[in-house]
Amino acid sequence: MTASRIVFPPLSYVGWGALGQLVPEVKRLGGTHVLVITDPALEKIGLVEQVTSPLRQAGCSVHVYTDVVPEPPLETGEKAVAFARGGEFDLVIGVGGGSAMDLAKLAAVLAVHEGSVAEYLNLTGTRTLEKKGLPKILIPTTSGTGSEVTNISVLSLDTTKDVVTHDYLLADVAIVDPQLTVSVPPRVTAATGIDALTHAVEAYVSVNASPTSDGLALQAMRLIARSLRKAVEHGADKQARIDMANGSYLAGLAFFNAGVAGVHALAYPLGGQFHIAHGESNAVLLPYVMGYIRQSCTKRMADILNALGGNSSFLSEEEASHRCVEELERLVADVGIPKTLGGFGIPESALESLTKDAVQQKRLLARSPMPLSEDDIRTIYQAAFAGTIVEPNNE
Ligand SMILES: [Fe+2]
Repeated sequence: MTASRIVFPPLSYVGWGALGQLVPEVKRLGGTHVLVITDPALEKIGLVEQVTSPLRQAGCSVHVYTDVVPEPPLETGEKAVAFARGGEFDLVIGVGGGSAMDLAKLAAVLAVHEGSVAEYLNLTGTRTLEKKGLPKILIPTTSGTGSEVTNISVLSLDTTKDVVTHDYLLADVAIVDPQLTVSVPPRVTAATGIDALTHAVEAYVSVNASPTSDGLALQAMRLIARSLRKAVEHGADKQARIDMANGSYLAGLAFFNAGVAGVHALAYPLGGQFHIAHGESNAVLLPYVMGYIRQSCTKRMADILNALGGNSSFLSEEEASHRCVEELERLVADVGIPKTLGGFGIPESALESLTKDAVQQKRLLARSPMPLSEDDIRTIYQAAFAGTIVEPNNE
């Protein structure tokens, strides 16, 4: 047993009205020329103004950069970094979902480095980050990717993904204000919410799980399970939005410290090859991957059942783990996520190319409690096309 490496961002504000801490924190960090990186849609609906107005009133110059797309390709990262290098900014704020926050982290750190983003990629890069970069504040507007608490920036390559990762990418301040999520439409609430749940579930069964990440993951599951359906059906439900913001934040801390595994590894190619949103990719695969690896972690699956609001007291571990998979299936269906890959328009002819790409996600697959071979991965995708949970011994 080795010691766990536990990393939290230095400071977070989490709760209704947390955005009120923005101006004091920008001042504390010495920000006067601020670069805000955000989604163009958020600027259009006036949400970004809630960030920029108080800053301008406080005397800061603010530039809003909106060249942000979902699942940002490497070139989008290169452009954001070039922009940050070209301006005289002294602080970067990321406002939005995972894409905007990931680009903000990248731009803040690489603004003070030389070389292309490609040279800092985890798998193929040759350079190492040497400086912390500009101070950065991350403000999620979905619940969520957890990007506000991790040290990773994910970039899409041709058909797969790679990351730039270093503790220098950690936010100086994370501001998690559920008020900003009230206008998120049901479909995005559902997808990002199941993404957060997946972070907690995968962290809890990860081979790198620790007592610290377990506590974070279980509480995240409790909050998400009791509030996600409500947040999808009634977006204005304040308590549901507060629970989801806290749940997503805790799930982010859990997976940052214990890692995600098979669900994310198989989800990445759906994004890379078919541009399915990250949350939806995870959501559709969650029951199939967890059903397939169930036998390797029945005790933990029983714990998850309880956290999801079920009761394992009168069940064997085996029975409880089956119930857990059923509960995950039910939750994903209840929030309106299609049950099969075909429901997203993915043809069965993609089976081999999806399998080939997923096998490359070795960093993620290494944390699965059940080692997943190429054949296992192919079988899970087949199950997700057929809409039937499959286990290794009953193929
Ligand atoms: Fe995720």
